[in-house]
Amino acid sequence: MRDGTSSFLIVANRLPVDRVGENEWRRSPGGLVTAIAPVMQRRDGAWLGWTGAAGEELKPFDHDGMHLIPVPLSQLEVELYYEGFSNATLWPLYHDVVATPVYSRVLWDAYKAVNDRFARAAAEAAAPGAVVWVQDYQLQLVPAMLRKLRPDLKIGFFLHIPFPPGELFYQLPWRNEILEGLLGADLVGFQRPGGAANFLRLCRRLLGVQYLRNEIQLEDRTVRAESFPISVDFGELDQLVREPRVQQRAREIRAELGDPEHMLLGVDRLDYTKGIGQRLKAFGELLDDGSVKPGEAVFVQVATPTRERVAEYIRLRNDIELRVGRINGEHGMLGRHPISYLHQSYNKEELAALYCAADVMVVTPLRDGMNLVAKEYVACRHDLRGALVLSEFAGAADEMRQAYMVNPYDIAGMKRAMLAAMRATPHELARRMRSLRRRVASHNVDRWASDFLTALESGEPVPTE
Ligand code: ADP
Ligand code: F6P
Repeated sequence: MRDGTSSFLIVANRLPVDRVGENEWRRSPGGLVTAIAPVMQRRDGAWLGWTGAAGEELKPFDHDGMHLIPVPLSQLEVELYYEGFSNATLWPLYHDVVATPVYSRVLWDAYKAVNDRFARAAAEAAAPGAVVWVQDYQLQLVPAMLRKLRPDLKIGFFLHIPFPPGELFYQLPWRNEILEGLLGADLVGFQRPGGAANFLRLCRRLLGVQYLRNEIQLEDRTVRAESFPISVDFGELDQLVREPRVQQRAREIRAELGDPEHMLLGVDRLDYTKGIGQRLKAFGELLDDGSVKPGEAVFVQVATPTRERVAEYIRLRNDIELRVGRINGEHGMLGRHPISYLHQSYNKEELAALYCAADVMVVTPLRDGMNLVAKEYVACRHDLRGALVLSEFAGAADEMRQAYMVNPYDIAGMKRAMLAAMRATPHELARRMRSLRRRVASHNVDRWASDFLTALESGEPVPTE
């Protein structure tokens, strides 16, 4: 970074740090940062993103071996670009319209303006011929904007959420602009092969470009679309849960819950895509019809606060809290509730202890790009106990067929799966968990990052198995 530019850049909506004091930062949890940090250190890398606070203008700074370049957002831009176009338009549209997307030209204008700012900041920060890796749906216009400013760069883009089929994508008034934005990249990565196929087909139908296998031929270059399922840091979690203090904490958690026979667990951002209401309904019905006796099972639902000013999230929180209150009111006893609901964030160790304590991990999104919680749970169960109930509509379902698979819209089916998971023999649990762990261990997040970067830099596909 001798002249202030970098040969490797990550461009993401958020910086990989959380503020812990006025000028103090802590590395954010999450696989992306863990996977990318060593690459950044090796390659003189920098990360561009928003600090998470509105109206904050900060100079670039270094943290934990990473060079960080803050991109400012005004309060109005947070409302229009982040809460608005990103999370009230694209988020529901890309997740099967499970909530109704808002289509507004004012939001679109803000999205374009903020994408333009990110592209300019990246163009300034990138060394000649640098590799720039743009992340996620908030920044889909950046690849083309950046290529226009800096045709010398190698540009990759990865979408962490699903990419929808034409039947849904066609609704978007700015559908062509989004596709053109993505086509600025040399490689566009998706979680699942279906996302890449949707993208290729939409480019042909809407933009009239041709593709062969996974390559789109433009006038002057080719763009590849491929899937790279993201994962977790298996080794780190596997080691963490072998620590005696984590095991001890897991025992304490169960004791605090009254040592129930079965502990079920959900860990999600409080998002309407996660199917939290559906799974609680299923659990509530198991109590209603006597399949599960009060005191026999406790459902711990961690519902992390998220996007709290967006209308659909406010509505969801009210719905979930009403449902929890009803079930606890009907089936609770003094000092004991069938649902333990926690609207809070936790550190990695407490989450790991929760995973270790839980007999049944319930992951039931209505649509999810991947779902890392499912993979984290498996990484934490070296004891081969514990069952994973997993939605067919999570990207993780492609790789985790040994889970108890469910359709979250089918409440009766979810009840059956939860009961089967609670009643499974240790032998059956171990058989499933062994196979799930094998997959997650061999396809961890380092592999995801290196597969993507190898494909981007070599221009060659990476063998999938
Ligand atoms: P999404 O990206 O939609 O939030 P994922 O399941 O893929 O869903 O990733 C969620 C990540 O956030 C996981 O790494 C999980 O451990 C973490 N997480 C979820 N809830 C909490 C919480 N309450 N406190 C801390 N981390 C959390
Ligand atoms: O996985 C989707 C995603 O929007 C990521 O881009 C983001 O890191 C995470 O969910 C949390 O969302 P937000 O940044 O809106 O809090």
